[in-house]
Amino acid sequence: MKILITGGAGYIGSHTCVELLNAGYEIIVVDNLLNSKAESLNRVRQITGKDFKFHQIDLLERAALDTVFFENSIDAVIHFAGLKAVGESVSLPLWYYHNNITGTLRLCEVMKKYGVKKLVFSSSATVYGVPNTVPISEDFSLGATNPYGRTKQMIEEILRDLNVSDHEWSVALLRYFNPIGAHKSGQIGEDPNNIPSNLLPYIAQVAVGKVNELKVFGNDYPTKDGTGVRDYIHVVDLAIGHLKALEKVLGFKGVDAYNLGTGKGYSVLEMIHTFETVSGRKIPYQIVERRPGDIGICFANPLKAKQELGWVAIRGVEEMCKDSWRWQANNPNGYENTKIFTNVK
Ligand code: NAD
Ligand code: WQD
Repeated sequence: MKILITGGAGYIGSHTCVELLNAGYEIIVVDNLLNSKAESLNRVRQITGKDFKFHQIDLLERAALDTVFFENSIDAVIHFAGLKAVGESVSLPLWYYHNNITGTLRLCEVMKKYGVKKLVFSSSATVYGVPNTVPISEDFSLGATNPYGRTKQMIEEILRDLNVSDHEWSVALLRYFNPIGAHKSGQIGEDPNNIPSNLLPYIAQVAVGKVNELKVFGNDYPTKDGTGVRDYIHVVDLAIGHLKALEKVLGFKGVDAYNLGTGKGYSVLEMIHTFETVSGRKIPYQIVERRPGDIGICFANPLKAKQELGWVAIRGVEEMCKDSWRWQANNPNGYENTKIFTNVK
C-alpha cells in the first residue's frame, strides 16, 4: 500500500511518517521545505530503519506533482502541506489562501486524474471559532475567525463538494486540537522557524535559555486559574490518529470530520508547572494582556473518533512535556547545527 504524504517533512507529518513506516506502509513524501528541513526525513529513516522517496515539490507546481503520480501507483494521500501561522495569515491573507487552497485544488485535480480518491486532510479545531460551550463536538457550527482558519473551513467545504460530485471520494477531515510533544527518541520534534508563537515551543525555548521569559496572555479568563485552557494532544497520538483515519478512508466512502483531542483541558499555568517539573528548569513568566483573538477555553469531545476510528489519545501532559523537553534539550537549534549538549533521557 503506497501512501503519498504532502508536508511530510513538517512537525506532524514527520511523526506520521514514522507511524506509517512502522505499520508497514510504503510512503512517498512531497514537501517544498518552506517550513521544514529535509533533515527531519533523515531522522525518520534513522528511527524506523526504513527508506522512502522524498520529492522537494511545491503543491502549486501541478506538473511536478503530476509526475509523482505518474511514476508511482499511489493508493491514498495524507495532506499536511499548508501554512499554519494565525498571525501571519492576518498580515498575508492572499498568500495563505493561495498556498493552502490552490495547493489543495492542485492536489485534488491530480488525484482525480489518476483515480486516487482517498484522502486524509489536516483540518483544525480553529474551524469552530469561538464555541458556545465545551467540550466541542463535530456537529458544532463552524466560524473560523482568521484567514488561516478560513482556509481550513473552505477546504473542508471543497472536499465535501468533491464527494457530492463523485461518491467514490473518501475523505477524513481531522480537526486537531493543540499538538505538542515529540517522538520518544528525541530525534524529531517541532522546529519553528523564528521565535515560536505557540505555547509549548515557547516554553521549551525559555527552558533551554534561548528566550528570557514567557508572556502569559491574560489571567482573567473564566477558567480555574484565569489563564487560557486548551486540549493539548501528544503528536504521536495524533500521528496514530492518521493511521486510523487512513484505515477508515481505505475501507469506506464518504466525508467525515473527526476531532483529534484528548477531551481534557489544561491551563497555561498548569503547562508551565508541568514543564518545570519534568525539565527541572525554572520557566520565568510575566502575565500580560490577553492576546487578541484568543478564546478562554477549548477542548474536544473525542467520542466520534473513538467510536468510528477506534482511536483514543493515551499520552498525558507530563509525557507531552517530557518529550518536548527531550527534543528541545537535545536539539536546541532544531534540525540546524544540531549539537547534543545535554543528556536528557
Ligand atoms: P509544519 O509547518 O511543520 O508542516 C507543514 C509542511 O507543509 C511544512 O513542511 C511545509 O514546508 C509544507 N508546505 C507548506 N506549503 C507547501 C506547499 N505549497 N507545497 C509543499 N509543501 C508545503 O506544520 P505542522 O504543525 O506539521 O502542521 C501540519 C498540518 O496540520 C498543517 O496543514 C496545519 O495547518 C495543520 N494543523 C496544525 C496544527 C498545529 O498546531 N501544529 C493544528 C491544527 C492543524
Ligand atoms: C495556547 C494557550 C494562549 C503563547 C493555535 C492556533 C490553532 C492551532 C493550534 C493550527 C492560549 C497561551 C500562548 C504564549 C501564552 N493551529 N499562550 N503565551 O492559540 O490555542 O491555537 O495553535 O491549526 O489554529 O490558533 O495555541 O499554543 O498559541 O496558545 O500565554 O507565548 O497558551 O493565550 O491560551 P492556540 P497556542
